[in-house]
Amino acid sequence: MTQRTLTIIKPDSVENGNVGNIIAHLEREGFRIVAARSLRLTQAQAGAFYAVHRERPFYTSLVAYMTSGPVWVMCLERADAVHYLRAVMGATNPADAAEGTIRAAYGTSIERNAIHGSDSAENAAIEVAFFFAASDLV
Ligand code: CMP
Repeated sequence: MTQRTLTIIKPDSVENGNVGNIIAHLEREGFRIVAARSLRLTQAQAGAFYAVHRERPFYTSLVAYMTSGPVWVMCLERADAVHYLRAVMGATNPADAAEGTIRAAYGTSIERNAIHGSDSAENAAIEVAFFFAASDLV
């Protein structure tokens, strides 16, 4: 079933010049880019986006990191997009990510892990709507 998901190419990837490599990797894996833009998250945006992690010890640091520089947000489409993207990204901690995954190639720590992907179809819909209007999705 064709499905949509949300990815964020994180500040470390932008800083290290890996945006093009990551987009090429995603296209090679059959994702169609439905919408994309770069932006710098505000504290309020990053805090709200990661609100589910509010009680976690890494939350303050995560919000500081995600607002430290520009990111690229994209809505991606393909069959089984949510699960497939998480497989292509690799484990949260790049040290545990399988060879050939985006986080193994470009992530440098559990926080600076190159890319975010929605963890469920329900959250994908919420996260896509967080960044894009229906008219942006083409
Ligand atoms: P992401 O998939 O965007 O979801 C939450 C983010 O929190 C995660 O990627 C990491 O960038 C960051 N993070 C930092 N420390 C941890 C941790 N100990 N466990 C999980 N996520 C962490």
